[in-house]
Amino acid sequence: MLIKDTNFIDLPVFIKGKVRDVYEVGADKLLMIVTDRISAFDVVFDDLIPDKGCVLNGISEFWFDYCKDIIGNHVITTDVSEYPMGLSKFKEELKGRSMLVKRVKMVEAECIVRGYLEGSGLKDYKSTGEISGIKLPEGLKQADKLPEPIFTPSTKASEGHDINVSYEYVKKQIGEKLASTLKEKSITLYKKAEKYALSRGIILADTKFEFGMLDGELVIADEMFTPDSSRFWELADYEPGRAQKSFDKQYLREYLESLDWDKTPPAPKLPQEVIEKTRAKYIEAYERITGKKFTA
Ligand SMILES: Nc1ncnc2c1ncn2[C@@H]1O[C@H](COP(=O)(O)OP(=O)(O)OP(=O)(O)O)[C@@H](O)[C@H]1O
Ligand SMILES: [Mg+2]
Repeated sequence: MLIKDTNFIDLPVFIKGKVRDVYEVGADKLLMIVTDRISAFDVVFDDLIPDKGCVLNGISEFWFDYCKDIIGNHVITTDVSEYPMGLSKFKEELKGRSMLVKRVKMVEAECIVRGYLEGSGLKDYKSTGEISGIKLPEGLKQADKLPEPIFTPSTKASEGHDINVSYEYVKKQIGEKLASTLKEKSITLYKKAEKYALSRGIILADTKFEFGMLDGELVIADEMFTPDSSRFWELADYEPGRAQKSFDKQYLREYLESLDWDKTPPAPKLPQEVIEKTRAKYIEAYERITGKKFTA
């Protein structure tokens, strides 16, 4: 089933993002639904990518479980028949694309780990030789692997893009003990996932985590190692010194670059072929990562 919006859910909206719709389920739980919407260059398209919501949700679910020896997570269940408040009647709409999670107190830091040089990290390195106050060796090229994964937090800007901050800044904001736990957990999670992804032919170049507190304990919330929160590259095509192709969205981006579109709304209508190829790439990402056949 294709899901564009989730207005059929009669619960208070917690947040509607570009791709996900989140609802309040009582005072202590949230229902996170991943729709089939797609965004590129920060613009949400009118067209949907069939199965994309299930792919993203499934990838997150896989990683929450794979990493549970390192840290607990916010997931209660992904089985719609166990959802409360009459939600289980939306089994067809919600199955595979949603999670019932514990509502946690989010820690005010976006925990980014970078194992490779790209994005805002590359930009900072080029101008200062550092990222988030961490000195890096000279002469690194775009997309090079870093000597060690680094923790480069940012803060959520309510408007526009997040702002990179130093680890020292995070320490001041949330306290030294919590900051050091976040850093340690983030790097441990990244190392474990990066190693696993490599074994499946995918480079996990960098990622962003969001942690929360639940009954005095730190847990991982939001989403985990999805193409929306991480950079995935095809190992077989990896070649430092240039931009790498994004595993999931490259095809769409290249198509959009070929148009005469200024990347501001409204988004152009997508041809069927572009929708199909993008869908296939998402499904491939799911299958490569989880090792399971995707079933809609
Ligand atoms: N278990 C949780 N408890 C409380 N808040 C959570 C939990 N998990 C995630 N969140 C919050 O829910 C929100 C999810 O928003 P979402 O990522 O869908 O949209 P966004 O970040 O506003 O926009 P974008 O579409 O650009 O990602 C985030 O603010 C995140 O911090
Ligand atoms: Mg988000």
